[in-house]
Amino acid sequence: MNRQLHLGYFLFGTGYHPAGWRLPEGKADGSYDIDFIVETAQKLEKAKFDFFFLGDRLATTPSMQHIFPSQMTRLEPFTLISYIAAVTKQIGLIATVNTTYSEPYNVARYTTSLDHLSKGRASWNVVTGSDPNAALNFSRDKHWDNEKRYDYAEEFIEIVRGLADTWEDDSLPKNKKTGQFADPAKVHELNHVGENFSVRGPLNVHRPIQGQVPLITAGYSPRSQQLAAKYADMVFTGGNDLEEAKRFYREVKAKLATYGREEQDLKVLPGLVPIVEETDEAAIQKYNQLNELLVTDFDLTALSERIGYDFSQHDILDAVPNLVGTKQGEKWLKLTSAAIGTEDITIKDLFYFFTSAVRGHLFVVGGADKVADLIEMWFVEEAADGFNLCPPYLPGGLDKFIDLVIPRLQQKGIFRTDYSGNTFRDHLGLERPENRFNRVKV
Ligand SMILES: Cc1cc2nc3c(=O)[nH]c(=O)nc-3n(C[C@H](O)[C@H](O)[C@H](O)COP(=O)(O)O)c2cc1C
Repeated sequence: MNRQLHLGYFLFGTGYHPAGWRLPEGKADGSYDIDFIVETAQKLEKAKFDFFFLGDRLATTPSMQHIFPSQMTRLEPFTLISYIAAVTKQIGLIATVNTTYSEPYNVARYTTSLDHLSKGRASWNVVTGSDPNAALNFSRDKHWDNEKRYDYAEEFIEIVRGLADTWEDDSLPKNKKTGQFADPAKVHELNHVGENFSVRGPLNVHRPIQGQVPLITAGYSPRSQQLAAKYADMVFTGGNDLEEAKRFYREVKAKLATYGREEQDLKVLPGLVPIVEETDEAAIQKYNQLNELLVTDFDLTALSERIGYDFSQHDILDAVPNLVGTKQGEKWLKLTSAAIGTEDITIKDLFYFFTSAVRGHLFVVGGADKVADLIEMWFVEEAADGFNLCPPYLPGGLDKFIDLVIPRLQQKGIFRTDYSGNTFRDHLGLERPENRFNRVKV
């Protein structure tokens, strides 16, 4: 079969845009309205999305309210994803685990349990955490450095995977005649002793339906890329620039061979924030409407630092000065211009686009054809194997994408019209792995 696009949904309960919830039609309590979340999950499944994804952070502050309200307060991912498992049948389910502040035995229990109760749709997104404040919630003075976090994460993953194999598939004969419920010869201790953990095992949950639950990673640092190349079935990334995204794609895929893996074993999925309407003009109108609702004091410090030009000497309504030769001025001008459809750009326009897109996901404003064509281009040019969709507001931002863009992707022959199986591994085209203890015996 032709290479197919993978599409997932990244839940931001108030919409990805900081002001998404303020639109008259925007959902303000989408992080807590469970009926609404269920409806969303069922809608995604009907549209044949690969997965429903829940991120996580381990610290918060009310000062996030104007920047990232959807991440400021929300439900714990494994609790919520279990609920979604009960009301869906086919869509993949991803919950985030911050290994820096977790225990592998517990996480192995969560992921394998989720896989059983969802009939083979569980997956975990491994992060090591970028918020130093998390340390203060876990009896630590400071967040570990990148090296230590990733050393810990690698050992953590080895243990979770090892524990998932400790019960062989046929280790529970449940023989009513003989009374043998379990076959001890097929149940194994892991006996892991390493730098950070000692874990004997076996796990007290049977081997997951998928054998191993798919593993996702997210991040940009070299160690994060290494983690992806070594272990991940899918990597979440960001990126607004096609050439940069192609470079990342090539680099991370090239690393797979070091670990005896093939290029198709790892899917690369950047985030995608589409402001999509029936026409380009209507999309620009929606984008402007969202930006006008931002609560901001137009502090230009971050923009000045990123671009390498001091904007404080100008009025916010001034036309953008000549930015040729600055660090990133030309790039951000080009992106802003593509979003609002004009080269006539004020500093305010630039500020708005920067504020909307600074977290790094591919941000597009346009009619359905423009959005579908962009997705196709990134897919065909191997900048992405698919996208992690972050609708700017709910429910309309998602509904428009499903109604207008998905049919176009299906017409282009790059997105499924039905699932080919019922497990998340099926959606990703992954084989069920053999049990390591089985391999040892033959
Ligand atoms: C699409 C995407 C989603 C992410 N989701 C989370 C998340 O939910 N929680 C989190 O702590 N970090 C998240 N991250 C951040 C990274 O996973 C990573 O842990 C963090 O950036 C620190 O590692 P680094 O130094 O390799 O960047 C995400 C990153 C990307 C690109």
